[in-house]
Amino acid sequence: TELSHIRNFSIVAHIDHGKSTLADRLIQSTNTVSAREMKAQLLDAMDIERERGITIKANTVRIEYKADNGEVYILNLIDTPGHVDFAYEVSRSMRAVEGSLLVVDSTQGVEAQTLANVYQAIDANHEIVPVLNKIDLPAADCARVAEQIEDVIGIDASEALQVSAKSGIGIHETLEAIVHRLPAPTGDAGKPLTAMLVDSWYDAYLGVVVLVRVMDGVLKKGDRVKMMQNGSIHLVDRIGVFRPAMQDVKELGPGEIGFITAQIKQVRDTRVGDTITHEKKGADKALPGFKPSQPVVFCGLFPVDAAEFEDLRDAIEKLALNDASFSYEMETSAALGFGFRCGFLGLLHLEVIRDRLEREYDIDLITTAPSVIYHIYMRDGTLVELHNPADMPDMTLIDHIEEPRIKATILVPDEYLGDVLKLCQDRRGIQLDLTYAGSRAMVVYDLPLNEVVFDFYDRLKSVTKGYASFDYHLMGYREDALVKMSILVNDEPVDALSMMVHRDRAEMRGRAMVEKLKELIPRHMFKIPIQAAIGGKVIARETLSAMRKDVTAKCYGGDATRKRKLLDKQKAGKKKMRQFGKVDIPQEAFINALKMD
Ligand code: GTP
Repeated sequence: TELSHIRNFSIVAHIDHGKSTLADRLIQSTNTVSAREMKAQLLDAMDIERERGITIKANTVRIEYKADNGEVYILNLIDTPGHVDFAYEVSRSMRAVEGSLLVVDSTQGVEAQTLANVYQAIDANHEIVPVLNKIDLPAADCARVAEQIEDVIGIDASEALQVSAKSGIGIHETLEAIVHRLPAPTGDAGKPLTAMLVDSWYDAYLGVVVLVRVMDGVLKKGDRVKMMQNGSIHLVDRIGVFRPAMQDVKELGPGEIGFITAQIKQVRDTRVGDTITHEKKGADKALPGFKPSQPVVFCGLFPVDAAEFEDLRDAIEKLALNDASFSYEMETSAALGFGFRCGFLGLLHLEVIRDRLEREYDIDLITTAPSVIYHIYMRDGTLVELHNPADMPDMTLIDHIEEPRIKATILVPDEYLGDVLKLCQDRRGIQLDLTYAGSRAMVVYDLPLNEVVFDFYDRLKSVTKGYASFDYHLMGYREDALVKMSILVNDEPVDALSMMVHRDRAEMRGRAMVEKLKELIPRHMFKIPIQAAIGGKVIARETLSAMRKDVTAKCYGGDATRKRKLLDKQKAGKKKMRQFGKVDIPQEAFINALKMD
């Protein structure tokens, strides 16, 4: 296809503003798929994505559109993940296209979560077409929202499109705008091949499928290609496009987006952002800006039922094949037995993987406290990278400890600013900057990552009613007064609950933890002390009093069915518990004990 007849774009939107509905409409109105094939929200394939309303993996679709000028254009839509954990994937997807539709709900206006993505689009030099959606609703106020887009984001909204993705108003205009207002890609078919690896995933039939954007040169079936990061060579055995079903093509030229398969065994062998070139006469310089996504949050995953360990191993291996940013290694815990220490891009990534293990593989899990990587400088001059608080070396051998810090940018409407500042301050933040854009404040904080990984995002959302956007990147490591806090239940340390905390906050956190645990652990036949300790020193203590009598006691000699029912209930409850010494701790306790109010 000629470059002048290609348009590549993504859709940027705040959650629920209608991104998927609009994408579906664009696909439908160009007859890319028949109505029968058209499942609602075609682009969000996975159940969890749908339920959580998030898009995890970039998806793509190629649309053929005959414009009013009689010419046929190829429109490639790349779907982008919307969450901060996947910021790197978003930025890669954005670099694979030249323009964006900015979808804003005309009954709501600009909301904060859109901003991080719009700025990524602006950074990638996109032409941006504002789309005011949901104009079918009586509450739509296009003039106000257009003004807001100009004030807050600073892009021209005088020619914003007025659309109802739901009822199909303005869809034709949107397609015309894509053709006439977004730029065509540039590239040179005569130059050595450079193709960006935008995404990759595992397909049960095809193996690893790689989504590519060709910049220069031509990629054909049968080509021997090289991944420039690791130098590995692969034979392209299939090449095609998504319409949205896979359709083979002969070649992909400059500006085109499509997929290849090349007998690649695992997704881990492909790196998002990498450059693909030919083995012979290849490009000598990779495309700029490659950085691998690195796990930053670690936690232990253990089966509730030790007999399910092998199932867990299988499930984790399968998931890892399809997700290069997820890492794992075996771990043993005194209290929890065999499990895995896993690394994630962020907390949402962690939750998604845990949910998939529980739902798709039907394994009940205990998740231990999420932790970041600490740098422990030993007195003998060695450096230990601590991924798991349980492995903390003896305090007396340690010289000092450094923790990762992030630079966080938060955009928030004025009225919530005070609460946001307090939250950041409470989490040991250092304010770096505070500016205003319209009725929004932009604050920049230097924060310890370990204060962010638990529930910072949830807290931020709740104190700002969802109106804050949050984006961060790692800045580096800094020394601080960090200690390991252990939790003892019935005098036995539960290593899965131990965590690193700042010394000044240890007592407060310890107190909160033991109080929570007291509520979360059911009463037993005996008294159970619950303690938080640093080294040998107890800093907080609660006692769970003994249960008065057996639940079945009241039916002795009485109704046998009722007794059996109660016992069955107990059994079902037991399955979700883990025994520590003589104490049963329910699964929820592990994660809930860590949440702070
Ligand atoms: P996520 O996938 O959750 O990020 O949201 P999204 O931005 O893709 O929004 P989605 O397309 O799922 O739409 C959110 C809700 O708005 C759905 O209930 C849609 O039916 C509804 N919706 C989308 N477009 C319109 C519209 O033009 N008018 C009306 N009335 N409702 C719409």
